[in-house]
Amino acid sequence: MLFPLRAPQKCLEPKNKENVQVIKVFSFLVLIISQLMAWSALAEPEEDRQAMLSFYEKHFPNVEFQEFANGVYAFDEIARQQWLEIEDFPPYEIAVDEGEAYFNNRFSNGNSYADCFENEGQGVRQNYPYFDTNVGKVITIELAINQCREKNSEKPLPYGKGELAAISSYMAYTSRGNTIDVKVPTNNPAALAAFESGKQFYYSRRGQLNFACSSCHIQAVGLSIRADPLSTTVGQVTHFPAYRARWGEMVTLQRRFAECNFQVRARPLALQSDQYRNLEYFLSFMSNGFELNGPASRR
Ligand code: HEC
Repeated sequence: MLFPLRAPQKCLEPKNKENVQVIKVFSFLVLIISQLMAWSALAEPEEDRQAMLSFYEKHFPNVEFQEFANGVYAFDEIARQQWLEIEDFPPYEIAVDEGEAYFNNRFSNGNSYADCFENEGQGVRQNYPYFDTNVGKVITIELAINQCREKNSEKPLPYGKGELAAISSYMAYTSRGNTIDVKVPTNNPAALAAFESGKQFYYSRRGQLNFACSSCHIQAVGLSIRADPLSTTVGQVTHFPAYRARWGEMVTLQRRFAECNFQVRARPLALQSDQYRNLEYFLSFMSNGFELNGPASRR
């Protein structure tokens, strides 16, 4: 602890006016210091983002900001050519079409997804994740889709792939070109704590290989792991769900977290657990200013 939170006992027994003055000055100082600490915590998310951006700008002086949304294809020329060829016949198109059909299906009670979302769910992907100040938790798009189902007495869908990934892909598709602007409400300690928990997770080493997310995507960015060059943290969330050629299916962002955890032989967490949602909150804030370009195709 940096300074004592409680005044020493003898100060608390005012014997004369001088002691009362000391207590007043002391309380005033504690108040000022705690305010300063609160303000510095508030400034932190944006400072973190700026620091991360300048790190990557220095590391890749020739890569344009928006290009980081294309992951490794921003700086790996050979992989980029292959990717552009794949984009001629995008493998995620089927998922977008299926997602649209699921999205427009009515629930048994006659309502539909459109009733749960702003603007009937069109072009709203950039509003997620957000911190719900009423429940004190981060709400992601996939969670919101399942909450919509449950509100309408439908069973929640399994996370990570399939029908849920298809609906999420369709919602991403209708939001292409919209700019990510995740807010960390600075007057809300719970929101700051959620951001901080995501950040801690990103920088903590884990698994038998003892790697943090940052070990690969910051420290080793641009280098290759088993022929896979490593992408930057900024721009990493813009394009999910993504069609993974290796798996032949759509994969949500949190399933990618799980895969990256698995790669370092750490036990992946449950999709949409508080921790993964906080991680998504942190990571999405780091991509503020990027345009959405999902869904995407990845190796
Ligand atoms: C052992 C190295 C390693 C670690 C540690 C690691 N990743 Fe990855 N990650 C990869 C590789 C390899 C890829 C595929 C190439 C790429 O896109 O960077 C990848 C891809 C990703 C992608 C998709 C990027 C895109 O453009 O589609 C995200 C998101 C991601 N990682 C997040 C994380 C998070 C969050 C953590 C920590 C939980 C993490 N990674 C830890 C190696 C790692």
